[in-house]
Formats: sequence, C-alpha cells, structure tokens
Amino acid sequence: MTKNIAVLPGDGVGPEVTNEAIKILKVIEKKFDHQFFFTEGSIGAVAIDKTGTPYPKKTHELCINSDAILFGAVGDSKYDNDPTAKVRPEQGLLKMRRALELYANIRPINTFLSLINKSPLKKEIVKDANFIVVRELTGGIYFGKKGRSKDKKSAYDICSYSKKEIIRVAKIAFELANKRNKKVTVVDKANVLETSRLWRETIHDQVTHNSSPITVEYMFVDNAAMQIIKNPRQFDVILTENMFGDILTDEASVITGSIGMLPSASIGKKIALYEPIHGSYPKAAGKNTANPIGSILSAAMMLDYSFGLKKESQTIYKAVEKTLSQGFGTKDIVKKNPLSTSELGNAIINFI
Ligand code: IPM
Ligand code: MG
Repeated sequence: MTKNIAVLPGDGVGPEVTNEAIKILKVIEKKFDHQFFFTEGSIGAVAIDKTGTPYPKKTHELCINSDAILFGAVGDSKYDNDPTAKVRPEQGLLKMRRALELYANIRPINTFLSLINKSPLKKEIVKDANFIVVRELTGGIYFGKKGRSKDKKSAYDICSYSKKEIIRVAKIAFELANKRNKKVTVVDKANVLETSRLWRETIHDQVTHNSSPITVEYMFVDNAAMQIIKNPRQFDVILTENMFGDILTDEASVITGSIGMLPSASIGKKIALYEPIHGSYPKAAGKNTANPIGSILSAAMMLDYSFGLKKESQTIYKAVEKTLSQGFGTKDIVKKNPLSTSELGNAIINFI
C-alpha cells in the first residue's frame, strides 16, 4: 500500500515524540511491504516564527493533499504568559480542525496491566477500565463569537451548537458503541445550558430509536468528572461537546498512569489527523525525556482507522504492551533507570 502522510511536529516535545512514531512507521513499512511518504509541514509557534501565522496556507495544502496527518503538539510558554498576544500557536490547531472539518475527536482510554500501579487511583478501580471519549471538535465555546466590551472591562465567549453539528458527531459515537459494549453516555450540563438541552433533544429524536441496540445514558458533566475517577469501568463510549471533552479527557488520561500514553484520532469529512493528547509540554522540550507512546499509538490508530491496516496496527500495540511489561518506560512511568524518548522508541522497535 502506498500512502502520503503529512507530518506536523509543531512545538515543544512535538518533534521528539513524532520522530519516534515515524521511526516505528518506517519499520512497519519495511516489515509489511508498504510505501509511506512523509512530508513535513509547520504549525504552531514554529510556524508563527517562520511565517507570521500559526497555520500557513502551505501546511493546509499539504494536509488536503495527503492521506492522513500525523500531528505533534502546539503551544509555547512565551504566549501563555502574554494574554495580549494577537497570534497564538493554539489558533493554528483550531484553524486546522475547522478548515479540515475534523468534527469528531476520538480518545480511547485503556489501561495497560503492567502500568496499573502507576495510576494515582486504586488498582481495583482502574483495572479493566476501557472506554472511548468522543469529543465534538469544531463547535461550541471554542468557535463561538468572542470579544470584549467597549470599556474592556467585560468579556464574552459564546457557546452555540446546531442540530447538524450534534447529529454528525453523535453518529460516530453510536457507530463506535455498536462495535463495543453498546452503551453511550452523553455528558452535558442540561440542568443549566440551553446548548446541552439541544444536545439531549437531538440525540433523543435523531439518533436513538426503538430498534437501536445502543443504551443511551445522560450524565451531567460535574457528576461525570466524579464518576470517571470513582468508577471508570461503567463507561463504554462517552459523547460530549468540545470543552467538556477537553477537560474530561485530561482527567481520564491519568487513569492509565500517564497522559503521555494516550493517542487520539480527529476525524471528519475526508482526511483524519492523529495526535497524542498530551500537548507541547515546553518544559521538557529538547530534553529527549518525553514519553513517545502517545504519538506511537496515534500512528497505530492511523494505520487502522485511515488505511484499514489492522494487522500492522495491532503489531504496534502488542510491541508497546511487551515493552511496558518488560519494565521499559520513560521517566513519567518508570522510576528506576528510565529510558529516553528515543531509547523507548528503539525498545518498541525491537519488539516489532
Ligand atoms: C487538546 C488541547 C487543545 C484543545 C489546545 C492546545 C487548543 O488541549 O487538544 O486537548 O483545547 O483542544
Ligand atoms: Mg486538551
């Protein structure tokens, strides 16, 4: 199989972890006789430095002409501490999500048995926790009108959703649940927010019907935040809007022992994008210490979801599992003799 992969390493630890994912893809390419072509594009703070914009036109063109996108992270502390900055690295990611219509973000939360003691939660609570969060990614408060009053003393961010936006992401969650344990938990704040009430009404009217094999449950987001750490095993697929999904997936990631482990897929009309959920982690940038597993498993998701290469994808998962079970890991998951980013990538390659 021949595929063109756009590689957008971005900022912070993005380039280091993405590099390990590419190393792994090159090994898979050889082993299974495929041809992957990698073309790099810039995004985020590095793109601002180079071109003045966080999502240059050239990067967009590269993306739309590729078969899938492997993305690292965006964000730089020099912007975090400057609320007046007009251009910000994160705008690049948001612009790209919108321009490529990546409306559904799929974040699987699995526990690796060998890491169970690394979770801040008790073993009996996290064992066998396995669920997927489907986060709406191109609507809600992230993309609503925002601004300041004339006197600059008040500000607003509008949260709005249309039925169309709700239906298309809900369909993805229901399709995933249908292949799993057939349960969707819709997380919202319908006791307060009108947009949440529209979500409930739409899902009730459009997506659920009598013949549907899926059980639908509705849960308020504050309760969901509690349930995720109290009893994560109750969930199969969580479906939620943009900002709740952002917050809950960071929370859920620690169930696995480290946010560095978690991959994600953002899918939409055509092309899909794969990225670790951990972000740019500027403090660790260039130190060769970040955990590359989130990026490596994102590459595995790409092989499965975008190219239909299930065997190849499973090969990566199994190699990661073996590597972890032998006690190898970066310093976020291993205290004694942790490996560097590139050493962990090499260890995983050995098991492939
Ligand atoms: C994520 C990140 C982004 C988001 C930031 C970098 C804009 O936190 O992908 O979860 O909030 O969506
Ligand atoms: Mg986030």
